Amino acid sequence: VTVYLVGAGPGDPDLITRRGAAILARADYVVIDRLVDRRLLADVPCDSIIVEVGKVPGQPELSWAQDDISEMLIALGRTGVTVVRLKGGDPFVFGRGGEELRALRNAGVAVEVVPGLSSAFAVPALSGIPVTSRGLSSQVTVVSGHDPSAVEWRHLGPGDRTIVFLMGSAHSAVLAQCLIDEGWPPHTDVAITESGSWASERRTHTSIAGLLTEAVRSPAVIVVGAVAALVDRAYVSAGVDGLGTVSALVD
Ligand SMILES: C[S@@+](CC[C@H](N)C(=O)[O-])C[C@H]1O[C@@H](n2cnc3c(N)ncnc32)[C@H](O)[C@@H]1O
Repeated sequence: VTVYLVGAGPGDPDLITRRGAAILARADYVVIDRLVDRRLLADVPCDSIIVEVGKVPGQPELSWAQDDISEMLIALGRTGVTVVRLKGGDPFVFGRGGEELRALRNAGVAVEVVPGLSSAFAVPALSGIPVTSRGLSSQVTVVSGHDPSAVEWRHLGPGDRTIVFLMGSAHSAVLAQCLIDEGWPPHTDVAITESGSWASERRTHTSIAGLLTEAVRSPAVIVVGAVAALVDRAYVSAGVDGLGTVSALVD
């Protein structure tokens, strides 16, 4: 194997898998997304080469095209060096990891997938929210909020369910309105975790009605449903310097 598609987890470097960390520690090249926490690079060999790719929202001229990323991985993979394609969360959850895997396989490059903790489940968990919970929620749906018009809202009506929105910051008010239109009571609990497990983490407890006006800063996980009421009211963030800093829940 020469190319490893590695899930970095939500940010905190302790939340990458042991396999992911071990491969990272012997990488010749690390190809990283904008959203990957730089603390994860602390144990990369000092002579390895870091290539930052990924997309900058609203700035296509600063963003890499997916085909170019795949081509670079193929070209590097063919040289036989150890290439780590490090992606936030899990590479296969809204991460385009599947496309990169296909491109590498089609090109005959040996590749291994190392799953990661997806922010969809890990960020709510770190915030004290069980995405399913007996008596409160019997199912969970992870939805991209990137384009609300592409969501099949009729499958997301009210009930004992949890909806987890990723990429929903820019359209949070539209998402809230669509939920209300679908029959969700406006007082339904909503928890927002911005920059989960990063030093700048911020948690907010609100309602669907509150989401109509709440400014949500990317990256954020938005949890809708009764379980969102369980969000921890205060938390300790490890911070970049490893010193504990206490942040209060904005309510
Ligand atoms: C392109 S998706 C990639 C998801 C990733 N593959 C995963 O499994 O977590 C990016 C979105 O993930 C969410 N996200 C990723 N890391 C996050 C974090 N540390 N805190 C909050 N949201 C995060 C945000 O919704 C962000 O817009």
